[in-house]
Amino acid sequence: RIHLLLMDLKSLIRDVPDFPKPGIVFRDITTLLRDPDGLKHAIDSFTQKFFHAGINADYIVGMESRGFIFGPPLAYQMGAGFIPVRKPGKLPSAVYCIEYELEYGTDCLEIHQDALHPGSKVLIVDDLIATGGTANATARLVKKSGCDVVGFGFIIELQNFQGRKNLPNVPIITLVEYL
Ligand code: PRP
Ligand code: ADE
Repeated sequence: RIHLLLMDLKSLIRDVPDFPKPGIVFRDITTLLRDPDGLKHAIDSFTQKFFHAGINADYIVGMESRGFIFGPPLAYQMGAGFIPVRKPGKLPSAVYCIEYELEYGTDCLEIHQDALHPGSKVLIVDDLIATGGTANATARLVKKSGCDVVGFGFIIELQNFQGRKNLPNVPIITLVEYL
């Protein structure tokens, strides 16, 4: 437990300047994932924070593609199921689709219509929140499925984008913050 509290996750995240465009500092989690202690610490402290916040969920919903990395181990630890939210045209059965605003134009995210049992409690998990557009669209997919969002979890929060303002008023757990 002490080991968990003392480990510096931020030092394992690599900053890549000017990716994917000039002026963007990309926060690269692949260097965290490849480190055995870092990976264990990230998943274990994520799980502990949800436990201490009293958040219980029937399902974890994770967004393509980096929400697919952190969602399933968290679901496994919490005894919940995992449901993928994907980019358009990838899910094989009937889907709900939500359009959301990007910097230029719009994109859309999809969930299987029969993935969530109506009335279930859902936790939304991704690697990172910036504007909150992706997480907000995912919350709308969960509501369209007749379910309640009981919390959000992000390994990284880019605080200057104020993405929290775009999310419903439920607990938001983060592990590493950047200004
Ligand atoms: C990144 C990240 C989040 C989203 C956050 O995904 O993994 O899903 O951006 O940004 P927002 O809060 O402004 O919506 P990206 O769109 O780069 O897709 P990828 O994970 O498939 O690379
Ligand atoms: N998604 C949105 N902004 C990002 C950033 N700066 N680094 C990594 N992923 C991102």
